[in-house]
Amino acid sequence: MADQADKTSQQHETLVVRHVAIVMDGNGRWAKKRKLPRHAGHKAGVNAVRRTVEACVELGIRTLTLFAFSSENWGRPREEIQKLMALFVEALNKQVPELNEQGVRLTIIGDREQLPADLVRQIEESEAMTADNDRLNLVVAVAYGGRWDIVNACKCLARQVADGELSVEDLDESHLTAQMQLAGLGDPDLFIRTGGASRISNFLLWNLAYTELYFSESLWPDFEQKELEAMVGSFHERERRYGKTSEQVSGDHA
Ligand code: IPE
Ligand code: IPE
Ligand code: MG
Repeated sequence: MADQADKTSQQHETLVVRHVAIVMDGNGRWAKKRKLPRHAGHKAGVNAVRRTVEACVELGIRTLTLFAFSSENWGRPREEIQKLMALFVEALNKQVPELNEQGVRLTIIGDREQLPADLVRQIEESEAMTADNDRLNLVVAVAYGGRWDIVNACKCLARQVADGELSVEDLDESHLTAQMQLAGLGDPDLFIRTGGASRISNFLLWNLAYTELYFSESLWPDFEQKELEAMVGSFHERERRYGKTSEQVSGDHA
């Protein structure tokens, strides 16, 4: 009996969407369609972030991780990068008090050493202001790359080995997980990419191992709450097997 109850609760657990990760792509094309400069698309993208955060709070999602700027985006024209960095400062400055009221805890992941000093200052203030909130973890990846994240975690572990705190024989997946940028927040259940492309573009490579992937044709500034709701709804119909057989997961055979 207890076994059966355990199994049922495990099945239920695997069907609950706790963590959503989104590659917010398509801002430039959204602007181009309207004959506007690319930056207008990025600004419209900030509104879509606000709507999505509200939707996640309503849906009871625990963690929302957003890809805002990748390691590879440093290769874009200087002017676009400068305007984007300024937009991040402005968006944090304007939005964080409201996020704070909603009970959102903000965390920025990525290589901060690459970011301008005024943005780093704004990030530190925003994180400090929201540190005690627990309704939704909002994680924003800026100057982030999945490969950078893995290398960074390896460096931390290599230092521990060099200092004699960890032996190579003891090293396992859990050590790496604990050093990754999403440590403590769990792996995403649902990955969404807007903008029509079906690729990961160096987002959370380590943490997406068993995440369910969704690709949307919507450009990010057009992404709406009802589309998110539909994805979360259809997630419940998927069977997460984690390498096992369908019978094992459904509990037909132990
Ligand atoms: C995503 O939108 C935002 C960032 C990468 C900063 P894009 O700027 O990539 O928009 P498209 O793909 O050119 O339409
Ligand atoms: C992915 O979008 C990165 C972000 C949304 C921050 P890109 O526009 O940079 O991805 P690619 O170049 O199409 O792979
Ligand atoms: Mg793009």
